Amino acid sequence: MSDGYVWFEGIPFPVVDFTPEHMREVQENFVFKDEDVLILSFPKSGTNWLIEILSLIYSKGDPKWIQSVPIWERSPWLETMYGYKTLKDKEGPRFMTSHVPIHLFPKSLFKSKAKVIYIIRNPRDILVSGYFFWITSNFVKKPESLEQYFEWFIQGKVVFGSWFDHVRGWISMQGKENFLILSYEELKRDTRSAVQKLCQFLGKKLEPEELNSVLQNSSFQAMKENKMSNYSMLRGWLLDQKNGSFMRKGISGDWKNYFTVAQAEVFDKIFQEKTADLPRELFPWEEW
Ligand code: A3P
Repeated sequence: MSDGYVWFEGIPFPVVDFTPEHMREVQENFVFKDEDVLILSFPKSGTNWLIEILSLIYSKGDPKWIQSVPIWERSPWLETMYGYKTLKDKEGPRFMTSHVPIHLFPKSLFKSKAKVIYIIRNPRDILVSGYFFWITSNFVKKPESLEQYFEWFIQGKVVFGSWFDHVRGWISMQGKENFLILSYEELKRDTRSAVQKLCQFLGKKLEPEELNSVLQNSSFQAMKENKMSNYSMLRGWLLDQKNGSFMRKGISGDWKNYFTVAQAEVFDKIFQEKTADLPRELFPWEEW
């Protein structure tokens, strides 16, 4: 933890609630059940938005659950000590979240029929979102400038490693019946259709007014005002007392307000090189 991360198998992890021994324990001993629902993402891809939507789908649009239980308790992060302890012996179907790359993930997932949703987002927006979040947080190494964070990001020296490796690893599950890839951009562009797609994948049926309630209660504004979902309860501990804001802008394409022309060119080049052999439809934000 001396350099602002906990390291496990060459990948940087946050310094709070992680140890290498614990990571090994999760990887070797966590047992998935077929009824589990797992949300996977690279941090800052819209993970919490997806948790909110799933919470509301399962409660048929009733906001009671999302307004009374913190988001990290509804769908704990499996790799944290808190999450593992909470989930390990939990009866019945479980919701859980993870940012762990596929090669370090508990092996039992690949033998189960647990439903897995991978949320993907334009890495340029992830970079900007991450920069503004980590500078106000106390659990990962703080960048000194966006320029510095840009370098770390393209080198994969950020929490959970390289975005390119993360995506490449997890999308190898594409085509499996229990695996769905959803993009932040499609969720943003047409939330209703994306929620319907999620319902179909999860085998859930919502009445029109229930669907409306899911949309209403998971909107950016509703989440920003919901203290169970906006992380305001962590201010002063994991987040900076004054500036720590999790619900920042919630838009697509904000990177254009921050990247220089040179940075945009460098990123494009790296993106092309690293994704050349991957299906183009995985990256709906890209202008080919
Ligand atoms: P920005 O920093 O670009 O605003 P994660 O949950 O993976 O950490 O992702 C956080 C990003 O998702 C933040 O992006 C946050 O604002 C955005 N987000 C969270 N809830 C959202 C919502 N209901 N609608 C749109 N974006 C949302």
